[in-house]
Amino acid sequence: MKKIGIIGVGNMGGAIATALCKNKYDLILSNHSKKNLEKFENFENIKTTTSNIEVAKESDYIILAVKPNIYEKVINEINEYLTSDKVFISIAAGFSIKSLEEMLPNRKIVMTMPNTPAMVEEAITAICPNSLIDEKEIQDIVEIFSSFGIAQVLDEMYFPAFSGSCGCLPAYVYMFIEAASDAAVLNGMKRADAYKFIAQSVLGSAKMLLETNLHPGELKDMVTSPGGTTIEGVKALEDNGFRSAIISAIDASVKKSKNMGK
Ligand SMILES: NC(=O)c1ccc[n+]([C@@H]2O[C@H](COP(=O)([O-])OP(=O)(O)OC[C@H]3O[C@@H](n4cnc5c(N)ncnc54)[C@H](OP(=O)(O)O)[C@@H]3O)[C@@H](O)[C@H]2O)c1
Repeated sequence: MKKIGIIGVGNMGGAIATALCKNKYDLILSNHSKKNLEKFENFENIKTTTSNIEVAKESDYIILAVKPNIYEKVINEINEYLTSDKVFISIAAGFSIKSLEEMLPNRKIVMTMPNTPAMVEEAITAICPNSLIDEKEIQDIVEIFSSFGIAQVLDEMYFPAFSGSCGCLPAYVYMFIEAASDAAVLNGMKRADAYKFIAQSVLGSAKMLLETNLHPGELKDMVTSPGGTTIEGVKALEDNGFRSAIISAIDASVKKSKNMGK
């Protein structure tokens, strides 16, 4: 089995390591401080180290999961150990294939964009390989990222739209859940019940869309009985520019994502 290295086991690196560990991948993890490595120390399929170079030397696939502002520093540190047979995987926002190839010439590079639901193994991850990656490696990478959600190869030109929608969406959904819970509390529901009930309603609605393959409008129509309560709320949402607000928010995030790219 190919060995997977993860450099930086914070929120994302830690979530990816946890999912890959459950799936019995052979892992080597590094973190500059020991603290974040502690919870991975007693697994037979995981080796932990504070040396990023050790990870680069020993792994076939190397996932760099440090913050974007130290990406270049860590890439410089491991550069000479990333031989041309190894696959370097970026999960950072803001690094294009071109910018990664400039730092790592003639190397196998994959640009990916997972979102935070990776922490509960429900991520959506976009994957874009450079021209040196072969079909088998693409399959391996899709399999690796499918350990914590859904993973799909996506052309780089769609990454800003992906990042602005799926990367940012969890924040918008949490705001929606918070607002919906406020409304339930306003009408007498207990706060804790409101978060639980509304989050489950969002989860169930998303699952119905994915599992039935019905158009979202059709699913909405199934809930709106003539003269009923839901259509009353739908009218209030339309009166308050609900769809327009969502489109503007995602469009703003996509524009920002395009401007941030290296
Ligand atoms: N969070 C998200 O929503 C999200 C989504 C998609 C992609 N990403 C990408 O994931 C990457 C990591 O983000 P994150 O939110 O997981 O950050 P994070 O929680 O801060 O994790 C970064 C980890 O890297 C470690 N680290 C720092 N400097 C290091 C070095 N020189 N060598 C080895 N390890 C080092 C940190 O250790 P210490 O804590 O001990 O300093 C920490 O464990 C970023 O590039 C981000 O763009 C994040």
